[in-house]
Amino acid sequence: MDSHGNSGSFLHRWTRSGDAVHAGLVVTLLIGVWCTQALEVSVGKVHFVEVMNGSSVLLPCTYSSCIGIKNLYFNWHYNDNGTMVKLCEAVIPAEGVEPHVKIYHDRLEFVGSSKDSNISVLLWNVTFEDEGEYICFARNPKEKDRNHSAVFTLIVVDQLKEVDNTLTIIIMSVVGGLIGLIIIVMVIKAIVVHFLNKAQEKNKECLVSSSGNDNTENGLSGSKADNKASPKA
Ligand SMILES: *[C@@H]1O[C@H](CO)[C@@H](O)[C@H](O)[C@H]1NC(C)=O
Ligand SMILES: *[C@@H]1O[C@H](CO)[C@@H](O)[C@H](O)[C@H]1NC(C)=O
Ligand SMILES: *[C@@H]1O[C@H](CO)[C@@H](O)[C@H](O)[C@H]1NC(C)=O
Ligand SMILES: *[C@@H]1O[C@H](CO)[C@@H](O)[C@H](O)[C@H]1NC(C)=O
Ligand SMILES: *[C@@H]1O[C@H](CO)[C@@H](O)[C@H](O)[C@H]1NC(C)=O
Repeated sequence: MDSHGNSGSFLHRWTRSGDAVHAGLVVTLLIGVWCTQALEVSVGKVHFVEVMNGSSVLLPCTYSSCIGIKNLYFNWHYNDNGTMVKLCEAVIPAEGVEPHVKIYHDRLEFVGSSKDSNISVLLWNVTFEDEGEYICFARNPKEKDRNHSAVFTLIVVDQLKEVDNTLTIIIMSVVGGLIGLIIIVMVIKAIVVHFLNKAQEKNKECLVSSSGNDNTENGLSGSKADNKASPKA
């Protein structure tokens, strides 16, 4: 009774102090901000991938938890036009302990590692039917079995699209070649014009000098000849 009363008055004294209440609120808020998502699953920044039929594709997924994990349950589902098809599932007993993954799909392989908090899977020999949404799901019993999931979309394209790509590459290189050709032609034209101009200047000089010589010499000789010829005639 006595101690109870004492602690009561002690608490009363502290709660009356506004600073203590504020400090408590701030601490609670900070913890709340840090741990709003005790567990987080993520498929990365890019939520989709486009692959060619026949190739293998990584369906990425990682988890992170700020309070740690214990018996973390995860699975992968495929959204088959609204019906969820379970592809694999496992429990990670503790951090760093590799899970024993049960796989329900014959072309699926678990490639993750609990050391990297990685629960990615690999899908082999993709067909057009594999296109769609893949859901990575995880649940950590440490946080009241809250469900967490992330969606990764797989787009399967025909090899023809690859041909389209090569076609655009061809077109681009042709355009590039044409531009290169035009530049070469223009450079050649500039050089030719330059030399032509030089040649013309030389020609003009030659014409001027030769015509000058011609005029004087011819005129002189001509007049001389004329002069000589006319008395003879
Ligand atoms: C991809 O699909 C096309 C068209 O259906 C087919 O011709 C081709 O063989 C397929 N490629 C592979 C590797 O399965
Ligand atoms: C998907 O479901 C819709 C209606 O629910 C249906 O019309 C469509 O044919 C289905 N597609 C496939 C591929 O099953
Ligand atoms: C994928 O296809 C190749 C060749 O078609 C085959 O050898 C291989 O076993 C297939 N892999 C799986 C997991 O089905
Ligand atoms: C997860 O593991 C796979 C296979 O080892 C790897 O390719 C992938 O990059 C990993 N993802 C992350 C986010 O580490
Ligand atoms: C989590 O998902 C399971 C089904 O996978 C469901 O039964 C359970 O009610 C969900 N829990 C919460 C807290 O949403």
